[in-house]
Amino acid sequence: MKILLINGPNLNLLGLRETNIYGNTSFVTYFNILKEKYTFLEMEYFQSNVEGELINKIHEVGFIYDGIIINAGAYTHTSFAIRDAISGIKAPAVEVHISNVLTRESFRHDSLIGPVCIGCIMGFGLDSYRLGIEAIIEYIKSK
Ligand code: DQA
Repeated sequence: MKILLINGPNLNLLGLRETNIYGNTSFVTYFNILKEKYTFLEMEYFQSNVEGELINKIHEVGFIYDGIIINAGAYTHTSFAIRDAISGIKAPAVEVHISNVLTRESFRHDSLIGPVCIGCIMGFGLDSYRLGIEAIIEYIKSK
């Protein structure tokens, strides 16, 4: 099973950025823990602060990989283009957020990508990604 974990803008700063909200662990450290846990998966990680690069990556893997876990960061709330990219590919996508965006500022309450993802996991810190992986494994197996 091939899974892509994709992080959008500012998530390269995990571990440094607003640690009261996003925690002290860098994503690279966390990704290594995930890789040790999910040895049966082929997992790739991609991060970009650039909308078009995220879209290019979604296109690149979207007909080859079995699933995508995406934290689009603030593009979640603004990007019709990322929504269209997800809706245009074959691989199912799970939307993930570290924080519970529904308890935060109102501009974070809407997700443009939510309707084209199979589901959303938010609010569990970095563990949201693991839960997303569990969800997509079960979803793929059920197909
Ligand atoms: C986030 C929530 C977004 O609103 C924010 O812009 C982020 C991170 C999260 O993982 O909680 O960059 O996606």
